[in-house]
Amino acid sequence: MSRPSVEKRTVLLVGATGLVGGHILRLLLEDETCDRVIALTRSAIAGGEDFSRLDNRVVDFERPLEWLDQVAADQAICALGTTIKKAGSREAFRRVDFGYPLTIARAALNAGCRHFLLVSAMGADANSRIFYNRIKGELEAAILALGFTRVSIFRPSLLLGDRREFRAGEVVGQVLGRWLAFAIPKRYRPVHARTVAAAVVRTAAADASGNRVLDSDAIAEWGAD
Ligand SMILES: NC(=O)c1ccc[n+]([C@@H]2O[C@H](COP(=O)([O-])OP(=O)(O)OC[C@H]3O[C@@H](n4cnc5c(N)ncnc54)[C@H](OP(=O)(O)O)[C@@H]3O)[C@@H](O)[C@H]2O)c1
Repeated sequence: MSRPSVEKRTVLLVGATGLVGGHILRLLLEDETCDRVIALTRSAIAGGEDFSRLDNRVVDFERPLEWLDQVAADQAICALGTTIKKAGSREAFRRVDFGYPLTIARAALNAGCRHFLLVSAMGADANSRIFYNRIKGELEAAILALGFTRVSIFRPSLLLGDRREFRAGEVVGQVLGRWLAFAIPKRYRPVHARTVAAAVVRTAAADASGNRVLDSDAIAEWGAD
């Protein structure tokens, strides 16, 4: 993929308060080709008022009619997601991980967005027997079917990084992943959230035409320091 080519642009970001989204936000605000970042969040971004190029809009994702007309941007990045445990049920998980991003994607497309970038997950597959992978795969397929000029999908494996909340499964996976890294094929190795964010922000800056799916090994390469 070629290096950044795009001139000034407005980027819509959802998930900016999360692990990957926080790194994406920081990198976008450091990127001189990024004119403005519209971050839709359900609570205000801490210290967000310090950044003149950041337009943080606090919204209720359950009430899209209140914010659907506030998403006009050249590019949109989605790093929003929850866990089945946090959401409380499969239905609630689906509403957040499938419903919210799809609503945002539709609104962004209607408002003229040309490039949608989605942080999905390793194993995403609309035909998977695993519920999480199926929802991620269904979302990818639904977004690809919308008709954006460009769609970029990132499928990271287990994320590394400092998370404020404790997720036991993630910690076990991270420790095992670090110890056994040499024995794990690159595509399955844990990847740092910062690296994922860098891959997303570089892909947005390159803004190459067409669609692409980056698996975790490609993310690790493209997002490397
Ligand atoms: N964890 C992993 O190892 C892993 C691996 C591969 C892919 N992924 C996927 O990568 C993406 C980013 O992961 P991450 O670990 O960076 O996520 P994260 O830290 O959990 O952040 C998720 C973001 O989504 C927002 N969000 C969650 N539930 C919401 C709700 N009900 N309403 C509005 N906003 C909500 C959060 O907002 P608040 O701050 O307000 O909660 C936050 O901004 C997710 O789609 C995830 O499924 C994760």
